[in-house]
Amino acid sequence: MNITSACVKETPDFRSTKPHVLPLYPTSSFAFENIDQGIAMFSGEPGHKYSRYSNPTNDAVADKIARLECHGTGLEATAYLTASGMAAISTLCTGLLQSGDKVLTQENLYGGTAELMNRILTKNGIVVEMIDFKNHTLVEEKMRTEKQIKLVYLESPANPTMSLVDLEFVGNLGKQYGVLTAIDNTFCTPYIQQPFAHGINFIVHSTTKFLNGHGNSIAGIIVSTRKDLMEQKIFTALKLLGTNCSPFEAWLLHNGLKTLALRMEKHSANALQIAEYLDRHPAVETVNYNGLPTHPDHDLAKKQMRLFGGMMSFSLHGGMQAGLDFMNKIKFCTLAPTLGDVDTLLLHPASMSHRGIAKEIRERNGITDGLIRISVGIEEAEDIIADLKQALD
Ligand SMILES: Cc1ncc(COP(=O)(O)O)c(C=O)c1O
Repeated sequence: MNITSACVKETPDFRSTKPHVLPLYPTSSFAFENIDQGIAMFSGEPGHKYSRYSNPTNDAVADKIARLECHGTGLEATAYLTASGMAAISTLCTGLLQSGDKVLTQENLYGGTAELMNRILTKNGIVVEMIDFKNHTLVEEKMRTEKQIKLVYLESPANPTMSLVDLEFVGNLGKQYGVLTAIDNTFCTPYIQQPFAHGINFIVHSTTKFLNGHGNSIAGIIVSTRKDLMEQKIFTALKLLGTNCSPFEAWLLHNGLKTLALRMEKHSANALQIAEYLDRHPAVETVNYNGLPTHPDHDLAKKQMRLFGGMMSFSLHGGMQAGLDFMNKIKFCTLAPTLGDVDTLLLHPASMSHRGIAKEIRERNGITDGLIRISVGIEEAEDIIADLKQALD
């Protein structure tokens, strides 16, 4: 019996039914009706050929996120889903940059992005310079005078101090001096921050985080208003590096996206209550939350973010031991090295994610021994506060 062909020859007829939920297409390739159709597809006619190039499930999700990033701006964007947030960032950089080009960025990037820049991009002859984007004179001077700078790469808010970059300022400079600009919008999602409205050209996400929201898939996305560069450069890099997303991960992401608005509202409302509580607690030294009027970037947050989001950090008096003791006492919240899920997640960077980084570099970027990062979930705020209280007291 020819089992293989028996499995594939019968194609169900989907035309008579319209699924309510986005269909999942777990297929590596797409069958052609005849050789003429195959030739047409390989000559550039639109259509799906092979899932590393495109897949109907992935395209539907990518298109939805592109529309969210453009919502209300009058702009249009193109998007490709990727295998992870890191796949999005590495595909973006590989697609846009070549040996000799410089990427201008900040030191307080997500650790994986900083490593990618310092260990992989530099190996390929790309120059990486990390500067303080609060120093507007320096940023302007560099973008005006250094023709080698081909990409400005930002993260705002940045881990763990929730420091912000003025997106309008950088977006305008990018336009003025012809430099491409990109941002990691993972912490905010388009519900809170729409970087295209400020003139930023590329947006990447780890959709693993808030966009999915349920911690059950790893994926990423690259979105851009530069259709030309997306089709010519980014798509080529994605297809040849093989950084495409699995349709199943895309499908899970799509399920999570349906509640994005509700979740971001609740994450933000809970986070403000928790930040205010922590700010009053005697065991707490500082609280880094954009929603507190005492945060150095509170006014900028009000200008470029619709809500203040679910991410914050706080430092404890008592350094490393206080941090470890606090984490060990937590009962209701979860200790996990991720963020953006519906449940509250805690991380002690000095002993976990930033363990291998020299103390001096850590501290320069605000990661002190007693610092705790919270990704505030959508549980009842009182339950989260009760857990933090019993651990702090
Ligand atoms: C801000 C930010 N960007 C990118 C990434 C990388 O995403 P992924 O783990 O999906 O590759 C992370 C992961 O924690 C992140 O926090």
